[in-house]
Amino acid sequence: MNNREPLRIPASILRSYAEAVLIASGAVPEDAEIVADNLIDASLSGIDSHGISRLGIYCKRLKLGLVAHRTEVKVIRDAGIAALLSGGNGSGPVVGVRAMDLAIAKAKKFGLGIVGVRDSNHCGALAYYTSRAVTQNLIGFATTNAPSTMPPWGARVAYFGTNPLSYAIPTGDPERPIVFDIATSTVARGKIILAAKANKPIPEGWALDKDGYPTTDPKEALEGLVLPLGGAKGSGLALLVEILSGVMTGAAVGPQIGSLYDDFQKPQGVGHFFAAMQVGLLVSERDFYCRINELSKRLVALPPALGHEEVLLPGEPERRIKRERMDKGIPLTTEIMKELIAVGQSCGQCQSLRSYQLT
Ligand SMILES: NC(=O)c1ccc[n+]([C@@H]2O[C@H](COP(=O)([O-])OP(=O)(O)OC[C@H]3O[C@@H](n4cnc5c(N)ncnc54)[C@H](O)[C@@H]3O)[C@@H](O)[C@H]2O)c1
Repeated sequence: MNNREPLRIPASILRSYAEAVLIASGAVPEDAEIVADNLIDASLSGIDSHGISRLGIYCKRLKLGLVAHRTEVKVIRDAGIAALLSGGNGSGPVVGVRAMDLAIAKAKKFGLGIVGVRDSNHCGALAYYTSRAVTQNLIGFATTNAPSTMPPWGARVAYFGTNPLSYAIPTGDPERPIVFDIATSTVARGKIILAAKANKPIPEGWALDKDGYPTTDPKEALEGLVLPLGGAKGSGLALLVEILSGVMTGAAVGPQIGSLYDDFQKPQGVGHFFAAMQVGLLVSERDFYCRINELSKRLVALPPALGHEEVLLPGEPERRIKRERMDKGIPLTTEIMKELIAVGQSCGQCQSLRSYQLT
């Protein structure tokens, strides 16, 4: 294996490996199946910052008893279109799926469904949840707060997390929904973690070091601050995410949220917000699909800017990478492969990766 041609492993092998390792770390099989699916879906979609590279830290927190081995979601309040859940300190992806599915059920019944969650954990890439709404021909929306690593615009210390948000819109073509999914920092902090693992510099503008100076060294960045996307604008969006996911749900807010990687004393206390909405709430469903099709066609037909070959709708880059990775396997850097093998070895579960042993 060399740097030009990363090792590729079929998604099915990585999925069963992840499931086995999660179970060996304490997760019940039902939870392990969902968490593994969430990680593999992100890796397949090219969201490497939130894919299989997170297996190690998820297992560590399970083993330390910082995440419940069986996710038991409880309804705190349920009033028509809205419900508030406790995630019972379960695995974030399991809590997220249950909460989004409740929002979907409500949207089917009432037109709109809103579900807030407290007492949860890191839930990975949000497109995983908003895409569930799209499969039911609903608009999906999701936010989660995250451990404090980002200063609000104008501040010199962290308060917000990288507070991501995602929306997904059905277009009438089940193969081509619009799926937008971003951190409200310039990039997800996971991309800086991956750069640190690979010993590669990060672009200017992503982060500051611990003294508040711009840095391209990912290790300095991880000890410092990530910057909000587009200055005051990303900061304002991060605030919205914090209000929806934290303030409205009664979850931990800002620095109260436990760090995924650095705090092994207490649960994270993350909050999430999920919404699903029927497409025909205003114009008729038929009109909606005609209009969204027209809009999509017009957008992708626009002349591309310098440096671009074509105009893409959000979700299209991930779909293309998914097709390629389904076919050729998920590429893994040497560092991530070593880490995965070490996680498995620590619980006697590295069997299925042996044939891909590093040379
Ligand atoms: N759970 C958490 O605590 C947490 C925190 C932060 C981020 N995240 C996740 O990290 C992931 C990555 O976030 P990010 O901010 O680094 O994402 P990113 O900067 O890679 O942006 C991704 C979005 O941009 C769209 N996009 C990219 N190129 C495009 C193009 N040419 N034309 C049109 N659209 C295009 C993609 O379709 C996608 O919707 C997300 O899945 C997010 O949910 C999770």
